[in-house]
Amino acid sequence: MKTDESTKLKSDLVQVARLALSEKTDDVRLFVARLVRQYRGGEPDLAEQLDTLLRTIAPGSATHYMRRKNSSRREVASLPVDGESQLSLLKVFDDGPDFPAPLLAATVSESLAQLIKERKQIKKLATLGLHPTKSSVFVGAPGVGKTITARWIAAQLGVPLFVLDLTAVMSSLLGKSGSNLRAALDYAKSVPSVLFLDEIDAVAKRRSDDSDVGELKRLVTVILQEVDDWPSSGLLLAATNHPELIDRALWRRFDLIVEFKTPDAEAVTVAIKRFLGPDLPKFEKWIGVLSYTFQNHSFSDIEREMQRFRRALALGVSSSAKLIEDIVRLKAPDLGRAEQIEFAMLLDSETSLSQRAIHDITGVSRDTIRKHRNVAPTLVKRSSRTSTIA
Ligand SMILES: Nc1ncnc2c1ncn2[C@@H]1O[C@H](COP(=O)(O)OP(=O)(O)OP(=O)(O)O)[C@@H](O)[C@H]1O
Ligand SMILES: [Mg+2]
Repeated sequence: MKTDESTKLKSDLVQVARLALSEKTDDVRLFVARLVRQYRGGEPDLAEQLDTLLRTIAPGSATHYMRRKNSSRREVASLPVDGESQLSLLKVFDDGPDFPAPLLAATVSESLAQLIKERKQIKKLATLGLHPTKSSVFVGAPGVGKTITARWIAAQLGVPLFVLDLTAVMSSLLGKSGSNLRAALDYAKSVPSVLFLDEIDAVAKRRSDDSDVGELKRLVTVILQEVDDWPSSGLLLAATNHPELIDRALWRRFDLIVEFKTPDAEAVTVAIKRFLGPDLPKFEKWIGVLSYTFQNHSFSDIEREMQRFRRALALGVSSSAKLIEDIVRLKAPDLGRAEQIEFAMLLDSETSLSQRAIHDITGVSRDTIRKHRNVAPTLVKRSSRTSTIA
């Protein structure tokens, strides 16, 4: 054996021992997955043996996954760390079956229900010579639920979700990200799991930077191959806010494209109610106003504000009426004239704000409010209909 080969073997052995003795089982798996790739050319038998071990010995040998099946704990661990860079390649979400279902538009929830069903009935499909959907890309604005939906799907399937943040992979290790990416992907393939490529457009976005072109080409190639070769025993999900930046070649390799829309008025109302949780009764009478206020906002915006409301009430720093008034004041300047009137009428019918206060908030004169009040029945009806369609 040549000296450099022997040196490498020794250092690999030391690395395995170090990881194993510090009980970093996940890191051991990652490392072994990388060895399989490295030794495949020169030592095919060794590579084969290691590969078999990886595939046949479940992580944490039963206990880990058996336990998680029955538990509802939510665990976020930092997984495989690149030996040299200490860059965390994968994050793990290990959610239990009670992970709350995201709020989804009917079309989205139907596609995802089928995707989950296919996974659960993989054998039935196989008897008919069919494969389940193995890759899907989630498209949508920030904060509409792409990430939590990926977590929910993995939880429904009873497997962990590995999240690979491509921005992190790329920015920290240009020049080596191709091999890091492969190592992370090998790891994800070696255990029953869902792999989530978050911000897949990150690869495309960097294209303008000339110095990185060679590296990017390598990354895109790796991803293209992986999407093509992903085993149907695993599920590959990806997400992007910028579908227009994604390589067409990559795009058409995904089996299923799911579009997450900014919530419509009905979904906004449902979200407000959900995020208010036990404090809902305190805001019940203003739900219409709140829904109007949060039109065209993302779920995460709504969640953030409702959490703030709840904290304010819990600490007694504000009252529900005051919170509503403040948020309404913030929102009113963004409205067009017709919306301002509609909003003023909604405030007039649903809150005890005076006409003067409504004027201050919306800029709609008291005369106009009074005038519309006289035709209130039709107007108010129209406004509530608008706010449920939008
Ligand atoms: N569809 C939804 N149903 C319930 N809650 C949601 C939904 N969308 C977003 N949220 C809330 O907003 C937070 C952010 O959502 P998430 O991280 O899934 O958004 P995202 O679409 O992945 O955004 P980004 O593009 O910025 O990564 C979640 O933690 C959740 O509390
Ligand atoms: Mg996300």
